Amino acid sequence: MHATLEQLERTFSPSILTPIRSPFLEKYGVELWLKRDDLLHPIISGNKWRKLKYSLNHALNLNKTTLISMGGAYSNHLHALAFVGKMLGLKTVGLIRGEEIDTPTLQDLKAFGMELRFVSRGDYRTLRDYKTWDSFPNGAENEYWLPEGGASTLALQGVRELVDEIEQDYDVLCVACGTGTTLAGLISVAPENVEVLGFAALKNAAFLNQDVAQLLVEKPRDNWRIFLDYHHGGFAKTTVELHTFMADFTVQTGILLEPIYTGKLLFALVDLIAKNHFSRGQRIIALHTGGLQGNRGFTHKTLP
Ligand SMILES: Cc1ncc(COP(=O)(O)O)c(C=O)c1O
Repeated sequence: MHATLEQLERTFSPSILTPIRSPFLEKYGVELWLKRDDLLHPIISGNKWRKLKYSLNHALNLNKTTLISMGGAYSNHLHALAFVGKMLGLKTVGLIRGEEIDTPTLQDLKAFGMELRFVSRGDYRTLRDYKTWDSFPNGAENEYWLPEGGASTLALQGVRELVDEIEQDYDVLCVACGTGTTLAGLISVAPENVEVLGFAALKNAAFLNQDVAQLLVEKPRDNWRIFLDYHHGGFAKTTVELHTFMADFTVQTGILLEPIYTGKLLFALVDLIAKNHFSRGQRIIALHTGGLQGNRGFTHKTLP
């Protein structure tokens, strides 16, 4: 028996807002809160459900039976998609970047029933040109295409719901960026007096400024900014400094991070706070976008 989208949604936990308490924050007089989307669901964690929900609804309304998308060998997006497909009784196909390898994430994808097709890095780049659900060339009638990271205007709708859940006042709202879709969703609905900050997880990511502006084209905003220099060497690259920071953060707060997105986000915020980027009395909310399954890619052998 398969679940409906509504039944699946009922299995989610609330995403709570947790204050981070530390002498460091007291010293600089700023408040830091984490919106714990990582607690939403053990598998469809973080921003994944937010970004997928309305696309899934769209696909189901169109009577599509196959969800097809793209990602790397540790992709959080494909991990969530494969699981969701299994729950909803939809076939899933994952186009995986690069040569065939074996990773814990890919093993999960197969266990969730996703068909894996490995594509060369060149072909993978071409796939990024297909930005809408019906743009995938030679797609079968029953297939629904989801661009990399689930990026689409429908994804913004789900992200907006998380902002609506925040009941208290705040000055700054922050998120790590891959495609910038989650950031665009936050900007599109955050109060105009709130500063919305994105932190690029990849190197040379200035293109994100255009991509995010494009997603906001119907209602441009100017209360946002993307920091491009907290990537620690590039996408999925890490530094000893980052790992040390993450370990300390977890010891102090009991909250797990991962080095690709949320570790870089929190590292950047602490650095900016220490540089007096924020004014005393400001309340910062950072989004914990989950993705902890990706930690399995960082063993003692891959740590710098
Ligand atoms: C854990 C995590 N955080 C943040 C992001 C960035 O999201 P976006 O691609 O919407 O910028 C991703 C990628 O989807 C992710 O997996």
